[in-house]
Amino acid sequence: MKVQILPSLLAADYGCLAEEIRRVEAARADALHLDIMDAHFVPNLSFGPDMATLARRVVPGLYRHVHLMMTRPDLYADRFIDAGAQTLQFHVEADCDAWAGLRAIRARGVRTGLVLRPQTPAAALFPYLPLCDEVLFMTVNPGYGGQAFMSEVLPKIGALRCHADACGLNALDIMVDGGINLETAALCAAHGANQFVAGSFLFKQSDMGAMIAQMRDTCTRAYGTKTR
Ligand code: DX5
Ligand code: ZN
Repeated sequence: MKVQILPSLLAADYGCLAEEIRRVEAARADALHLDIMDAHFVPNLSFGPDMATLARRVVPGLYRHVHLMMTRPDLYADRFIDAGAQTLQFHVEADCDAWAGLRAIRARGVRTGLVLRPQTPAAALFPYLPLCDEVLFMTVNPGYGGQAFMSEVLPKIGALRCHADACGLNALDIMVDGGINLETAALCAAHGANQFVAGSFLFKQSDMGAMIAQMRDTCTRAYGTKTR
């Protein structure tokens, strides 16, 4: 599996967003992760589709990866796709028909992902895997950046990778998000994750590019040693 590193724009300096987006591209990140919060599904508000449009305008070649933390993602999917989302993820706990949601996103030629809160069992995702390009395990309670990594999620990652392999879903990407730094990313990789979202840890680096390269390297090695 290809290891990918995705900085979350939630942790950027909002006083100079265009520069921050260029910094992510210059750091050779694999994608820009956009966290959309509706103040209902999670107790916080972030930004809307215009942020994807801004990213597309500033650096058209930087892949736009959108994580919807919304009660009704189905009502907004088209707007995010129109704004430039290239992967659209929503929560399995959201108040919508996940089958229909995933099909509608795929029908528009956009990659799909389902997301799991830390407390939701991995098995909640199993029925939907054939319609998912990737799954995202939240490793903090969604809503805020800068929280501590929850190691109790690790066994779920292993269980899902095992299940996907047993079902022949060898191309499924497994992503983690929340409290990710060099150490926690390596732990997740050793359990079968291959995509890593990091907000505060990456944006606070003076050399984001060097850290992304190091993270990619460390995670590639840890993924290779995984025991499951
Ligand atoms: C949390 C968001 C994360 C967040 C990660 O609800 O989904 O993407 O930005 O931030 P850090 O890396 O600071 O935990
Ligand atoms: Zn996220």
